[in-house]
Amino acid sequence: MTFSVVILAAGKGTRMKSTLPKVLHPIAGKPMVQHIISAAQSLGADNINLVYGHGADQLQAALSQNTLNWCLQAEQLGTGHAVQQALPFLSDGEDVLILVGDAPLIKASTLRALLEVKQHADLALLTVHLDDPSGMGRIIRHGEQVTAIVEHKDANPEQLKIREINTGIMIMGVTDLKRWLAKLKNNNSQGEFYLTDVIAMAAEEGKIIKAAHPGSAIEVEGVNNRVQLARLERAFQLEQATELMNKGVSLLDPQRFDLRGDLVVGQDIVIDVNVVIEGTVSIGSNVKIGPNCLLIDCEIADNANIEANSIVEQAKVASGCTVGPFARLRPGAVLEKNAKVGNFVELKNTILGEGAKANHFTYLGDTTVGSKVNIGAGTITCNYDGVNKSKTIIGSGAFIGSNSSLVAPVIIGKNATVGAGSTITKDVQDEELAIARGKQRNIAGWQRPTKRPT
Ligand code: UD1
Ligand code: CA
Repeated sequence: MTFSVVILAAGKGTRMKSTLPKVLHPIAGKPMVQHIISAAQSLGADNINLVYGHGADQLQAALSQNTLNWCLQAEQLGTGHAVQQALPFLSDGEDVLILVGDAPLIKASTLRALLEVKQHADLALLTVHLDDPSGMGRIIRHGEQVTAIVEHKDANPEQLKIREINTGIMIMGVTDLKRWLAKLKNNNSQGEFYLTDVIAMAAEEGKIIKAAHPGSAIEVEGVNNRVQLARLERAFQLEQATELMNKGVSLLDPQRFDLRGDLVVGQDIVIDVNVVIEGTVSIGSNVKIGPNCLLIDCEIADNANIEANSIVEQAKVASGCTVGPFARLRPGAVLEKNAKVGNFVELKNTILGEGAKANHFTYLGDTTVGSKVNIGAGTITCNYDGVNKSKTIIGSGAFIGSNSSLVAPVIIGKNATVGAGSTITKDVQDEELAIARGKQRNIAGWQRPTKRPT
């Protein structure tokens, strides 16, 4: 059976107190509604229809990588009215899976179970039992058969005791849905067109209505404010952390680990506290990540050691390298095997050759460093003249003395030596020593200035 998806996301989200539409608030760095779209895509939906109401420009910009039918619900007259906005995109004979945009933790496996239940029913609902069902639509059953959903505000005291609630997620045939939606009335306590009223219509027609349930209630928990957003963020993070631990990664504190993207891991990785990983990151086996590191879109190979407080962004770290503490690898930084970058060292668009070291207080930008080079403390490549960027090339085996400035474009030859404190403006040939600094004068009997009377 082919099916389409409708995602209801036109609600204003007033309680978020935000200029960003509610469904764009992120969970794990990704808009809430993107999590739902991705789940729908993974199920193989033919069509995904997004019912939106506010912030069209922001929504379209944030969700531009998806193929969506955009259905404007200019006025929010209820969930039934919202689904009506998508009808022009739905075809008779197919099923439609209705999802809500602000419950981001729904799992594809749960939706698959719902689709499976629909195989044996005319309408399948996702319901859950809650200890505190207040505010939710109650599932009314006659024996086993679901006969209606009654909204909290319309329920009588007996119905309010029911703990089985409507998650808002359901699937039915488009032909049925069209017929039922056409009959909706808004003569209820909220004056809204309730999608949930179609359940009683289906029951009256003698349709088979069945329910499926999520693995956990958190999957269907909605976000109305930032407190709930933070709660779901932590739940999602803990789940990701648990998955990683089950793959052989040690997290010293799974409560203090954040993955906002995709992480590919080897084995026996140890990740200390407060590490944040964003985008697409891969970490090889036997890697240690120290506390407070930020890793963004980078590759870290086996046996590397990223020490505390380091930032690695769009960079590659080969096997056996050591980075940090307090290092910053910026986009285009490439560390070849066993290279070392120490504290307060920044690399941008720079290759550090095999076994090369830049251990203290250094900036290397637009630079190629050969193997086994030693970059002394405080070395700076002057790659920017205020207008243009220029390159520095340092041959393998070279030794750059501390506190040197290499004014690019400049080439330092293989096994060349630069004396400490030099400002190098001309190329240095292989094996040469270059010293470019003021000569030291020692003046005997020097009198220090005395304080002037005021
Ligand atoms: C709805 C259900 C309720 C269920 C609950 C689960 C109805 C009438 N009630 O209630 O049975 O227990 O969800 O959270 O369906 N939306 C629109 N346009 C509208 C109104 C809502 O797009 O005109 C969207 C919202 O953005 C939201 C979803 O539909 O994503 C649900 O709307 P909400 O107002 O939260 O419905 P509830 O009153 O919570
Ligand atoms: Ca709700």
